[in-house]
Amino acid sequence: MKIAVIMGSPRKKDSYHICKEIEQRLNLYEANVEFDYIFLSEHDILDCKGCFICFQKSEKLCPCKNDSLESIKERLFSAQGIIIASPVYAYQVTGPLKCFIDRMSYLFHRQELFGKPAIIVVTTDGGGSKQVYRYLKMIISGWGMEAVGNLQIISPQYFKNRLPKSAFGYNEKYYDKKRKSLVMLSKKFDKRLSSTELRKPTFYDIFMFHCLRSKTYISAADRAYWEEKGWMKASYFYPVKMNPAKWFFGNIMRGIIHMVGKRFLENNK
Ligand SMILES: Cc1cc2nc3c(=O)[nH]c(=O)nc-3n(C[C@H](O)[C@H](O)[C@H](O)COP(=O)(O)O)c2cc1C
Repeated sequence: MKIAVIMGSPRKKDSYHICKEIEQRLNLYEANVEFDYIFLSEHDILDCKGCFICFQKSEKLCPCKNDSLESIKERLFSAQGIIIASPVYAYQVTGPLKCFIDRMSYLFHRQELFGKPAIIVVTTDGGGSKQVYRYLKMIISGWGMEAVGNLQIISPQYFKNRLPKSAFGYNEKYYDKKRKSLVMLSKKFDKRLSSTELRKPTFYDIFMFHCLRSKTYISAADRAYWEEKGWMKASYFYPVKMNPAKWFFGNIMRGIIHMVGKRFLENNK
């Protein structure tokens, strides 16, 4: 089984060590779990030029040619699960990760990674992990992946003798608590990876699904892709039984999006 780790950090330190601990845990539960670490800063990923061609026509027509994006995508598509790991940099993800996410923005329109289980790892010296986590959760849902869970670590409290020192020192209680969360998250990830059963979407997933469907009213490329996938009339990316409350919520969302989309088409005839 292969897990692709999208590494936002340019160094093999805090977030890398957390992912390594997850790797060790998964290897206790499963034979042959291979972690494929993708250090984005070591790759040549050109900045998005903002031409909109990927949204409106196809990502294959992207003018950023001959960089590493295609090979990174192949590594993601061939993985059974994905980890997105980033330190907090100025209350956001790191630059290389943001650049990568921008170039992969077409996945908000055509969810090629749909259904792939994913976890989020955020490290920080104390602040900003909530914002970064929320941002990455939105990316995971927007790309149609399944958010299995997350781990947010204040590195100086978790790692002993860590340099440079910060206002937060090592704290054994904190370490024990987070280590427990890491073990639990690894178990949950493993359970999800070894199951063929697809997870029932949350209200948030259903909300995102219908919001994402709105793009099919604007882009012919998105419409063709969603029609080909059979998602236009579906309740979610894959067939799933929903409880009446979620079913009702999904239909209300569908109605609203259809109304707004129809109005957009009429105004732009
Ligand atoms: C340029 C830069 C900006 C940072 N910005 C923040 C920040 O806004 N808030 C914070 O708590 N920590 C910040 N940090 C600290 C890192 O998030 C923290 O040390 C993290 O554990 C590093 O993870 P890594 O070893 O995987 O790179 C910043 C570090 C750097 C180098």
